[in-house]
Amino acid sequence: MTKIDVLLGLQWGDEGKGKIVDVLTPDYDVIARFQGGPNAGHTLEFNGMKHVLHIIPSGIFHKEKLNLIGNGVLIEPCIFRQEIMDLEAKGVDATQNLYVSQKAHLILPSHRMMDAANEQAKGNSKIGSTLKGIGPAYTDKIARCGLRVGDTMASDFRERYELLKEQHVRQAMTLGFDVAAFRIDGLSLEEYEQKWMESLATLKRFRFVASEYFVNRCLQEGKRVLAEGAQAMMLDIDFGTYPFVTSSNTITAGVCTGLGVAPSTIGKVMGITKAYCTRVGAGPFPTELFDETGRRLCELGHEYGATTGRPRRCGWIDLPALRYACMINGVTELYVTKPDVMNDFDEVKMCVEYEVEGKRTSEIPFEYNTLPITPVLNSYEGWCQSLEGITAYENLPAKLKNYMGEIERQTGVRIAAVSISPDRKDVLFK
Ligand code: GDP
Ligand code: IMO
Ligand code: MG
Repeated sequence: MTKIDVLLGLQWGDEGKGKIVDVLTPDYDVIARFQGGPNAGHTLEFNGMKHVLHIIPSGIFHKEKLNLIGNGVLIEPCIFRQEIMDLEAKGVDATQNLYVSQKAHLILPSHRMMDAANEQAKGNSKIGSTLKGIGPAYTDKIARCGLRVGDTMASDFRERYELLKEQHVRQAMTLGFDVAAFRIDGLSLEEYEQKWMESLATLKRFRFVASEYFVNRCLQEGKRVLAEGAQAMMLDIDFGTYPFVTSSNTITAGVCTGLGVAPSTIGKVMGITKAYCTRVGAGPFPTELFDETGRRLCELGHEYGATTGRPRRCGWIDLPALRYACMINGVTELYVTKPDVMNDFDEVKMCVEYEVEGKRTSEIPFEYNTLPITPVLNSYEGWCQSLEGITAYENLPAKLKNYMGEIERQTGVRIAAVSISPDRKDVLFK
């Protein structure tokens, strides 16, 4: 029996997970998403083309590989259909190599409305949700009233849908939300619902599977399975910067519940981090830069959300958060992306500890959201050169390798590879 390897983000998302999964896919037989939904935006670049995936695993461009949407994932049928159409336009027919768990929950149009209603009700303490309906759909899953992919085949599906929708409309009205004025992509709830129902036909073209049996059978047959995380450690519902988090377990433990595999089947855990740090949406971010350096990271790194287009907040790499991520996830190797964004920086910094209420700590305090946290920064000389054309890790500038060595020392985890451009070909293994 083989083990299932895991790849996940160690910061606040957008570390380059999609890109690294695409690069590693040739080593695997199956790529499986285990949590999250269309709040994710995973970018892949190769042959001069750029592709953004939201629900579909990042192995989809390798047509001989199987891709699985696990039970822990949320599917919004309209977004799913659009993604399938975008792939078809690029000549990729996913019907042959994409399987969907019967137990994956559905995001209804009214879940998206509830997301907007909840955010509006929060006033100044908004999460900055992507408004894809993630929180409300996971809420219904836990409240035991959600609808699952397999339920679409049941004769009473429409009745159950209507009951759930009515419940959402009542809740939204209680929150003082204007249901009649609500729009998704310019469509009213009823208009979007029509499109949503039609999109179910696209979903039904795919093989619905008992993904827990499917994955375990694959492992028993000696197939290699890679679990692809969405969002990231610091957005985890339990260990992230709650309440400024997403609504799923984004961590290694989420692989077990999101795919139906035992903890003892977990193999390598590959953690992805940028050489600096970004965050989209609200919530604490101790190393955030509000100055010219922060603006340069945003512009040079093209730090705009792949799902919402919002500018990402930028700052220095945060080692206390990274060490926490390595601990919670059992990270066995690191992948560092985007050092090339800092090629022109004379100086690069790293937060090695926090100062909270006059005391230094290397742990994430419970009061992360409420107490001012001052990052303790170490400074390093920049490498001040382009990385273009470098094809081997050992040929990277010495100062960059020194910076990478410092990340290894600070986390106690080895770096397996460094990515130096958005393109598939620019990942340098150590
Ligand atoms: P994900 O959500 O973790 O898959 O990451 P996103 O796709 O949302 O964001 C990562 C962004 O960085 C994308 O635009 C990628 O094309 C880009 N990217 C990934 N790796 C690198 C890299 O090594 N260098 C540069 N400059 N861009 C990268
Ligand atoms: P990938 O997989 C970055 C953030 C949102 C918001 C919070 C909650 O591309 O790394 P939600 O829609 O889940 O209710 O939003 O989480 N967020 C992400 N930030 N990358 C993502 O996914 C994210 N998915 C959600 O901005 O702050
Ligand atoms: Mg992303």
